[in-house]
Amino acid sequence: MKKELQFILNDEPTCVQVEENLRLLDVLRDCCYLTGTKEGCGVGECGACTVIVDGEAVNACLVLALSVAGKRVTTIEGLAKGGVLHPLQQAVVDHHALQCGFCTPGFILTAVEILESGKEYTDDELRKLLSGHLCRCTGYENILRAVKKTMYKRLGKPMPEA
Ligand code: FES
Ligand code: FES
Repeated sequence: MKKELQFILNDEPTCVQVEENLRLLDVLRDCCYLTGTKEGCGVGECGACTVIVDGEAVNACLVLALSVAGKRVTTIEGLAKGGVLHPLQQAVVDHHALQCGFCTPGFILTAVEILESGKEYTDDELRKLLSGHLCRCTGYENILRAVKKTMYKRLGKPMPEA
């Protein structure tokens, strides 16, 4: 039986009718047609389906859609504002931190949550914080560089050279 789900999706009040057992990932892709959120493993191992729910990066393949009732959900489609990429999205482009792009939305949303803390992290700390994401293409170094560049820009500090 379907139930009504009301939530805030990328700053827009949203109402959809969903089956009780649907995952947030299914609702985003199949009901809201936001296909930037990817399904990789479907079991919480790859990070491709990551979105931000009330400020916390979560695996949308592990979240029941109805559990986000009344919450704010941000997907990759909601990051750019007024046609301007989020600084981390721009850094990913500038530092060639993607190839096929399948992992990229998830990586970016987790990194956005990390950077929102306003803290300065070491490379090892960033690697650990991003370790829930798998990328088959890039070798991770350019992703780390894009996140670090954005972090130091936010902190108003020059990025230390490796
Ligand atoms: Fe959700 Fe892999 S699809 S963690
Ligand atoms: Fe292809 Fe990461 S860019 S999986």
